[in-house]
Amino acid sequence: MWLLIILLFCVPIGGQVADPAKAVITLQPPWVSVFQEKNVTLQCERPLLPGDSSTQWFLNGTAIDTLTPRYRITAASINDSGEYRCQTGLSVPSDPVQLEVHRNWLLLQVSSRVFTEGEPLALRCHGWRNKPMHNILFYQNGKTFRFLPRNSEFTILKTNLSHNGIYHCSGMRRHCYTSAGVYTIKELFPAPVLRASLSLPLLEGNLVNLSCETKLLPQRPGLQ
Ligand SMILES: *[C@@H]1O[C@H](CO)[C@@H](O)[C@H](O)[C@H]1NC(C)=O
Ligand SMILES: *[C@@H]1O[C@H](CO)[C@@H](O)[C@H](O)[C@H]1NC(C)=O
Ligand SMILES: *[C@@H]1O[C@H](CO)[C@@H](O)[C@H](O)[C@H]1NC(C)=O
Ligand SMILES: *[C@@H]1O[C@H](CO)[C@@H](O)[C@H](O)[C@H]1NC(C)=O
Ligand SMILES: *[C@@H]1O[C@H](CO)[C@@H](O)[C@H](O)[C@H]1NC(C)=O
Repeated sequence: MWLLIILLFCVPIGGQVADPAKAVITLQPPWVSVFQEKNVTLQCERPLLPGDSSTQWFLNGTAIDTLTPRYRITAASINDSGEYRCQTGLSVPSDPVQLEVHRNWLLLQVSSRVFTEGEPLALRCHGWRNKPMHNILFYQNGKTFRFLPRNSEFTILKTNLSHNGIYHCSGMRRHCYTSAGVYTIKELFPAPVLRASLSLPLLEGNLVNLSCETKLLPQRPGLQ
């Protein structure tokens, strides 16, 4: 009886429990580490749901005073560093995006620190105030793996387990400069989604199917 009452309030017409639509943060420009004084726009993307009103942003777990889907940082300072999340009325809070604001000669920028296999990963070795650098070397776990003669970026189109690790880059401009390291990790699988299928009215003894849906990686056949 108790269960039936809950369902009468929670199940939308049609008898299917709606997917918890998760908000996603995208960055423009797409880098999770930026130089001080740069402008960055965080966009909270989520499927439009009826009844959605405003967007709530969180920095380090504390709600911040912006209610638009776009959060604009003008002339980034160290104080804009931190863990951003966003949420709309009916969405599940987004995965966090860790934004780092740096002041350094050379910065290795990555499009994400956590990637799921098969996703692209962009890397960029960038000089302070766009100062041109040359003879750029990219390193993964201390070993060089890419040489680019000029300030530049490239993308690993399809990442796999071998792309885990610490990246940094070095470059020349009169002297030789080395960036700080950036640690990337691969997720085992995309965040699972719980689905329920049931038919109304739900009576005692009826069948309810719950499923936990995700994609398991083919090279980890033992994973359950
Ligand atoms: C950042 O935005 C401000 C205000 O919109 C603008 O005046 C400034 O030129 C922008 N800076 C850069 C580096 O684009
Ligand atoms: C950062 O925050 C601290 C403490 O709130 C403040 O003293 C400092 O002036 C801020 N720095 C900038 C660059 O806004
Ligand atoms: C958020 O946390 C990061 C590191 O945990 C810290 O560097 C940053 O200053 C914090 N930002 C704010 C606004 O509290
Ligand atoms: C991972 O991707 C690289 C190319 O970026 C490829 O050379 C390598 O064979 C791949 N490794 C696996 C285990 O698929
Ligand atoms: C639940 O799953 C079983 C087996 O896959 C299927 O026969 C049944 O129709 C499903 N029930 C509902 C309510 O979707």
